[in-house]
Amino acid sequence: MTSDPFSSLSGVRQVSRDQLEALQLERLRDTLEHVYAHSPVYREKFQDAGVAPQDLQSLADIAKFPFTTKQDLRDHYPFGLFSTPMDQVVRVHASSGTTGKPTVVGYTREDIDHWATCVARSIEAAGGKPGDRVQVAYGYGLFTGGLGAHYGAEKLGCTVIPMSGGQTEKQVQLLQDFETDIIMVTPSYMLNIADEMERQGVDPASLKLRAGIFGAEPWTDAMRSAIEARCHIDATDIYGLSEVMGPGVAQEFVDTKDGPTIWEDHFYPEVIDPETGEVLPDDAEGELVFTSLTKRAFPVIRYRTRDLTRLLPGSECVMRRIAKITGRSDDMLIVRGVNVFPSQIEEQLLKFSVLAPHYQIELYKQGNMDSVSIHVEVAEGNDRSTAAAAGEELKALVKSYIGISSSIELHDAGGIPRSEGKAKRVIDRR
Ligand code: DLL
Repeated sequence: MTSDPFSSLSGVRQVSRDQLEALQLERLRDTLEHVYAHSPVYREKFQDAGVAPQDLQSLADIAKFPFTTKQDLRDHYPFGLFSTPMDQVVRVHASSGTTGKPTVVGYTREDIDHWATCVARSIEAAGGKPGDRVQVAYGYGLFTGGLGAHYGAEKLGCTVIPMSGGQTEKQVQLLQDFETDIIMVTPSYMLNIADEMERQGVDPASLKLRAGIFGAEPWTDAMRSAIEARCHIDATDIYGLSEVMGPGVAQEFVDTKDGPTIWEDHFYPEVIDPETGEVLPDDAEGELVFTSLTKRAFPVIRYRTRDLTRLLPGSECVMRRIAKITGRSDDMLIVRGVNVFPSQIEEQLLKFSVLAPHYQIELYKQGNMDSVSIHVEVAEGNDRSTAAAAGEELKALVKSYIGISSSIELHDAGGIPRSEGKAKRVIDRR
C-alpha cells in the first residue's frame, strides 16, 4: 500500500505540482459529476450554460462552468443547494449576513472529517503540534469559526479549551491557569483580550501562549506586528468562509508569514475580473473564486467569494498562496469617487503608537459631499495633546496615501465599541 502524501503536512511539503494537479483534475471531475447527478439546481445551471461534466478535460476547462453566488444560496434557502439527501447531513452552519435570511451550508460526516483535516493542517502550519493546548475563542454556534477550529485542533491531537467568544476576563484567566499554548480568535478580539490583560496587570510575556491563529476578518501586517509585539507570540493568518467550508481553506506558515497557503487538494482557486468574470493570470488582483474538490453535502462550483486578492506561487509547498485579503468588494467604500478599504486606513493608523489600534470609520453627508471621520482611541498612558498631534499627522497620511480628506476623532481608552468576534469597522450614515 502506498501512503497518501496529503495525509500529513510533511507529506504535503513533498508533493510536486504535477502530482497535485493530477489529483485536482480527478477530484474536480468527480465533484462536477456528483453535483450534476444529485443537485437539480446545479444540473439546471450547467444545462443553461450548455456544459456537462465531460466538458472538463483539463483544469483550465473549469472556466466553461457557471459561477455560483451568494444569491444562489438565498434563492434556494435553506437546503435547496445541498447535493446529498438530508439524512446524510450531520451538521449545518449559517452566516448571518447583514440583511435578510442567513445563508445555510451543510456537511456529511466525511465533509466534517475533511474540514478537520484542513484545520489540523492549518494549526500545524501555524506552529502547533499534538499536545498543545488550544484556546478556541472564535464563536461557537451557527458561525463556522468555533466548531471548525475545535474539530481541527482535536484532530491534530491538541487539548481544546472551547471558550467561544466573549467573557474577556475569563479568557485571560484561562490563558494563565490552563497554560494555553495557542489561541484561535479574530485579531480584533485578540486586541480586546490584550487590553484586559493590561487591565488585570497580567504580563503577556509571563504566559505560556506562543501562537495566535487569527482570521475571519481583514487585518494588516501592521496589525500583525502590533499584536506580536504586545502579546509576545507568533501571529499567523487563517482564511476561510462558510460557503466554501469555514476556517482552514487557507493558512499561513509560521516560518514565512507570507500570506495564507490554499489547501489546494481540497479547494481549487481562481481569481477573476469582478466586472467581466474573465479568469486572470496568477499575481493579478481580482475576486477570489473557489470550487470545492472533496465536499459532498454542499459542494460549490466556482463560488464567488467577493474577497479581493492575488494568487501567489507556493513558498513552503507547491500549493499556491493568497496575498492578504485587501477587503471584500462589499466593504469597499467609495468616498467622493475614491475607492477605500478600511485596511488601508488601519495600515496608516498603526504607524502611531500613541493611538490605540481600536478604530471605526464613520461616513456621512455634509451637504452633498461625503465626509469621513476616523474614530480612534488615545493609547493608554498618553496625553491628548500628543495624540492630537499624531491625529494631525494621520490625517495627512490618509490624504497623501489614500487620497481622501478626513477628520480624526479622538476617544479615551475604551471609547470605541469592542468586538467579541468580527469587528465592525465602518458606520455608513450616508
Ligand atoms: O469567517 C470563517 C472563518 C472563521 C475564517 C474563523 C477564519 C477564522 P464567514 O463568517 O462566512 O466565515 O466569513 C467569511 O470573512 O469571505 C472574508 O471576507 C472574511 N475573512 C475570513 N478570513 C479572513 C482572513 C468565516 N484571514 C469572510 N482575512 C470571507 C481577511 C477574512 N478576511
